Amino acid sequence: MKNSIIVAGNWKMNKTMAEAIAFFEVMDSLALNNVEAMIALPAIFASQIKSQFPNSNVKLALQNVSDKNNGAYTGEISASMIQSLDIPYCIVGHSERRSYYHETDELIFQKIKQCLAYQITPIFCIGETLEERELGKTFKVLKQQLERGLGDLNVSNVQHIYIAYEPIWAIGTGKTATTEQAQEVHLFIFEFLQEKYGTEIASQIPLLYGGSCNTTNAEALFSQPNIWGGLIGGASLDFNSFVELLEIGKKIIP
Ligand code: PGA
Repeated sequence: MKNSIIVAGNWKMNKTMAEAIAFFEVMDSLALNNVEAMIALPAIFASQIKSQFPNSNVKLALQNVSDKNNGAYTGEISASMIQSLDIPYCIVGHSERRSYYHETDELIFQKIKQCLAYQITPIFCIGETLEERELGKTFKVLKQQLERGLGDLNVSNVQHIYIAYEPIWAIGTGKTATTEQAQEVHLFIFEFLQEKYGTEIASQIPLLYGGSCNTTNAEALFSQPNIWGGLIGGASLDFNSFVELLEIGKKIIP
């Protein structure tokens, strides 16, 4: 069960190197208590941030990884490269990758396997479209994404995964799932994992909510029993709002 709140920023394709450094400089002076702070960086910033802030209280993630091990794949970044920088997390299967770059469940499964092979924790994203929700297909879609994305991973692998529920209709739109909608889906994910891998493993897998999560709605969302925190885009770009999200996390699990 959750014993900390996870506030994971996803910067997407935003900020310059100088802006990223300025953000981490201020972060370094903050006490985090039981909050786990994470930033998913644009890959090109990772090496410098890692070397300039070796003891940062912010955990680092990347936003994407190749499904291939290595070789002639121009522009791709492999899990072994991420591991060589000692970056412990990587987002996989974000809906923007699924829709703009045509990533399939099968490709996402390969990416998750690459991460696990190199001891990188994948933050595996799933979520339904507005149309799917309105047609009452939410749980069917999510179950399929979970089944295909986790494939035949065994218990020892799956316990190293984070899962983010990001309803596509809520990402960057200012529309958030209600706390009830979000909790309902998180419980569904927990029960899926429980059935497949057992209660002990399911209880260890952090489940994050993403989709217009911000300083106004985070407290209600993070207080839900099966929501461990958030994967936060827009509201993680501004330093003050990111810090406020961390403060909200501290209030929930002091
Ligand atoms: P948003 O993005 O918070 O800007 O909606 C969330 C995400 O895509 O991870």
